[in-house]
Order: sequence, then C-alpha cells, then structure tokens
Amino acid sequence: MLEEIANLEKQALTTIADAGDEQSLEEARVQFFGRRSRLRQILSGIGKLPGDQRRSVGQAAGAAQKAIESALAVRQQALAAAAEAGDAIDVTLPGRRRRAGAPHPLTQIIDDLVSVLAGMGFSVADGPEVEDEYHNFDALNTPADHPVRDLHDTFYLRDGRLLRTHTSTVQIRVMESQPPPVRVISHGRTYRRDTVDATHHMVFHQIEGLYVDRGVSLGDLKSTLNALGRRLMGERTNIRLRPHFFPFTEPSVEYDFSCSLCGGTGSLADGSGCRVCKGTGWIEIGGAGMVDPNVFAAVGYDPEEYTGFAFGLGIERIAMICHGIDDIRLFLDSDLRFTRQF
Ligand code: FA5
Repeated sequence: MLEEIANLEKQALTTIADAGDEQSLEEARVQFFGRRSRLRQILSGIGKLPGDQRRSVGQAAGAAQKAIESALAVRQQALAAAAEAGDAIDVTLPGRRRRAGAPHPLTQIIDDLVSVLAGMGFSVADGPEVEDEYHNFDALNTPADHPVRDLHDTFYLRDGRLLRTHTSTVQIRVMESQPPPVRVISHGRTYRRDTVDATHHMVFHQIEGLYVDRGVSLGDLKSTLNALGRRLMGERTNIRLRPHFFPFTEPSVEYDFSCSLCGGTGSLADGSGCRVCKGTGWIEIGGAGMVDPNVFAAVGYDPEEYTGFAFGLGIERIAMICHGIDDIRLFLDSDLRFTRQF
C-alpha cells in the first residue's frame, strides 16, 4: 500500500502541474483529492488496518494529502495570476533579476571622508546652497572688491543672494550658532562660473573641516591632514604644505599628498613618468590654514583666547585620483555606463 500511495502522489503532482486551466485543475482535484478518490479511501480505511501497518500507512497517506493540497494551491495561484496578466506573461518563465543599485562614486568618496573624519571626532554640519553675500564673503574676510565676488566668478540670483562658491560658508553658520570648542565638517554642492573643462566644472562638491579651541596650532592641522591622507591614499602617504593665500585663513596653505601610484618618486617601475602626479611625486588636494582673527571677530569669538584651523578639498578631485578618471564632466552626465562601474 505504501508503494500505491507513493505512485498516487507522483501521478497527482504531475497531473496538477500540467493542468493548463482552471477546469483541468478541478478535474485533477476531483480525481486525486475528491470524496471518491483512492487517497480518501485509503485515509478512511486506516483504522481497519492491522496495527503494524496503521502507523506507516497513516503517515504516508497524510504526507501525500499535504503535498497534493499544497500543489493544488500553488497551481491555482499561478493560473489566477496568468489569467489576470493576460497572455503576455508566461508565469512559468524564471523571474527577471533586479540590478542592485550602488551609491554614486562621489557619494562613496564623501562617505569615506566623513567616516575617517568622524573617527577623529568631527561631526557633520549642514548649510544652504543658496547663500547670502555675508556668509559666503563678508564674514569670511573677503572684501567687496575681491575678484572672486565678481559677476564673472559667482552665480548671483536676482534677489542679491548667490549660489555658494565653497563650503566655508558653513564655518560661519556653525560658529554663529554655538560657542567654542567646535569640531565640524560640512560637505555638499558648490557653484562657480568657471569654464567647464576636463578638470573644472561649474557645479562640484567640497568637504570642509573646522576645529576651534584653546591652543589649536598649525601642527594640529598638519597632523590631521596627514592622518586623512594616510586613511584615504594608504599608510605611506606623506603631506606637503605650500604657502598660499585665502582671505579667511592666516597663515594659509595649499596641501598636497604624495602620489599613491608612484609612491612619491614621480616615475613608475618601467622608468616612465607617473601619469597621476605628472612626474612631480605630489598631488594637489586642497586649501587650508589657521582661522583668520577677523573671521573670529565676525562670529563673536575672542581671537585672543581661541585659535582654530580649517581645511577644504574638492570631492571630484579625490574621486578622479582614486578611480583614475580623467574627465570631471563624467560625474554630472548621469550616464549609467559610467556610474554602473562603481
Ligand atoms: C576653497 O574653496 C577654500 N574654501 C578651501 C579652504 C577651506 C581653504 C578652509 C582654507 C580653509 P579652492 O578655491 O582652492 O579653496 O577650492 C578647493 C578645492 O575645490 C580645489 O582644490 C579643487 O579641488 C576644488 N575646486 C575648485 N574649483 C573647482 C571647479 N571649478 N571644479 C571642480 N573642482 C573645483
């Protein structure tokens, strides 16, 4: 009898799976599961079987009953779905694999930078992209006749506001809103009326750091940038500061990381010049400096009591170095063939 039950189950499952419409499915149900079906007969006769067979036949018949029941339900659902979708969809075809999304390459760099800087105790602050002249220039010690304020360099709105030209605006907004100590980073989109080419865009991203407390020194700035460079570009990365000018920092520097491709030597193993650092051994990263006392005065901090450093860098530039990308325009083109590579 056990063999008979196994055969019945096999036959039932095949017939159910082959049922192409509701009617054939109903016929299969009556045949294998109806009141007069063989399986029902076996089930109702279990009690009359000799004791040694009762248990094994009962178990086998019960299992067959469950298997047939669930096969009927599955087929019923499939036929209903097919009827609803019409003939266009063959529900027996395997499903379409969904492509998993991934963060944009610039978002990935921002996430990395935020994670490294958060590990050094910086928290993230946010600020508006549409700014006023005061926060973008005046409070940052940038005089009214500074060329950067020219219409040719900055996007002004009709109401006199502007699209922020850097994330340094957030320094001011944070310091206005709280007393020292301050240890924040801010990141986001920035805008300049630069001519677009392979390395410049009019819309790009920056990240900015600000640390203000008693006794903060240029040495602290250098060690912070050094640690950032090592986490981003590898443990052997060195840092170089070059004198520069920014109205809102004094002294001001531009900082470079040693090239991660050639190890700072400027040439590759085959003797050719390094294509990433153009043979110089250094990669320009961004600007930094000690916060100018005039900036502290603008936000009501006492420059005799507090000192601080600030640094900024371009996200696209880091992404281009890390991924070997030679045209900044690719980041804004929204071409999936480009973004899907990351
Ligand atoms: C600044 O914007 C300063 N606010 C940075 C700073 C912060 C200095 C704090 C001191 C203290 P700069 O103009 O050099 O600096 O721009 C910083 C970075 O933004 C550059 O190194 C570059 O990577 C990026 N950048 C600037 N202009 C463009 C552009 N048109 N397209 C793409 N990236 C740009």
